[in-house]
Amino acid sequence: MTSPSSLPIEVRGSAKQPLGMSPAQFLRDYWQKRPLLIRQAFPDFVSPIEPDDLAGLAMEETALSRLIIHDENRDRWKVKTGPLTEKDFASTPNKNWTLLVQDVDKWDADVAGLLEHFTFLPSWRVDDIMISYAEPGGGVGAHVDQYDVFLLQGLGQRHWAIDTNPDAPKDFRPDVELKQLATFDPDHEWLLEPGDMLYLPPGVPHDGVAFGGPCLTLSLGMRAPSRAELTGDLADYLAERLPDELRYTDPDLAPAKAAGEIDKAALTRLREAMPFAAALDDVTLTDWFGRFITRYRSAQMPVPPEKEVTSSALGKQLEGGASLLRHPWARMAWARGKRGATLFVNGHAYPAAARLAEQLCGEREFTPGQPIAEDELALLLALVNDGHLIARKGKRR
Ligand code: SIN
Ligand code: CO
Repeated sequence: MTSPSSLPIEVRGSAKQPLGMSPAQFLRDYWQKRPLLIRQAFPDFVSPIEPDDLAGLAMEETALSRLIIHDENRDRWKVKTGPLTEKDFASTPNKNWTLLVQDVDKWDADVAGLLEHFTFLPSWRVDDIMISYAEPGGGVGAHVDQYDVFLLQGLGQRHWAIDTNPDAPKDFRPDVELKQLATFDPDHEWLLEPGDMLYLPPGVPHDGVAFGGPCLTLSLGMRAPSRAELTGDLADYLAERLPDELRYTDPDLAPAKAAGEIDKAALTRLREAMPFAAALDDVTLTDWFGRFITRYRSAQMPVPPEKEVTSSALGKQLEGGASLLRHPWARMAWARGKRGATLFVNGHAYPAAARLAEQLCGEREFTPGQPIAEDELALLLALVNDGHLIARKGKRR
């Protein structure tokens, strides 16, 4: 196995080997692992599309396009999403702007033809070919992408800067909708000519700026669903196929020891009901189920008090013998944790002492013992201010 330090970051391609090496070697050493600049990945490359065609496409109703103009002096970025108009193009400055159009491979067969060079990847892994046209200084600013990308220079020159440091900060600039990086400290820079190609795995900070004259860059982006998307879709898929009669069941139920507790037996039953979730640890399964079951079939939401109650005001009321009435629409459950417990109320989770959580679940009207501990008061205050508990003077007999 080749050691990472001996792997070059720059290689030369050829008509036979656009990656400058075999696909197997590229996949082993670079794919999803490290960036690679391939000089002349496509020797004598001629762009399959002209800038004017790209502008025409950006005016189509259903094409996804963006016009990005950078005001260098004020470091302000203006983003206009398509469909764009003749007027938009007529009003662009003579530098520092770029037009990006996604999915150009779906509109243009010559552009789609480029994909034939990437058949070493599963076709379903390829998302689209996005093409950017930029005037000198134009770009989208330093950013990271969450998917692999091959950036092929089509026309003119582009200056690329990347940061290969895996620990590079990834915070966004708060003022720009383009998810640009707040800090960017590149350690590699190149000027790309037509036919040169830069491969970037996910998460590598990069910034490409058009240099000298008009610049066209084709970027072949991969499809990398987030785990959140995979999980959400799998859940929908499974749910659609499960008959309504299959329910949470507990024929083994023993008399409840503690009011409202989600106990170990309940977790075991949940794992049986959802075998695909059996690998979830107790903490995650409980946290999800506690939130879910206290929301489930609840038709109304408790409404917070008009004026937020202060800690000292509630403390005084409770010391004066006031009780706390559970809002009729507040549904509660609780579970023991490694440290203390969690009280679930209408989909929310509150850290709580087990004793108090059990008491709140068991008593519709609750009078705290005296003196009231600080953490106890903090929980009661949160529940009052979220509308789950209502303070009432004196105790009803
Ligand atoms: C561009 O072509 O301007 C941006 C492509 C990218 O950085 O992903
Ligand atoms: Co990018």
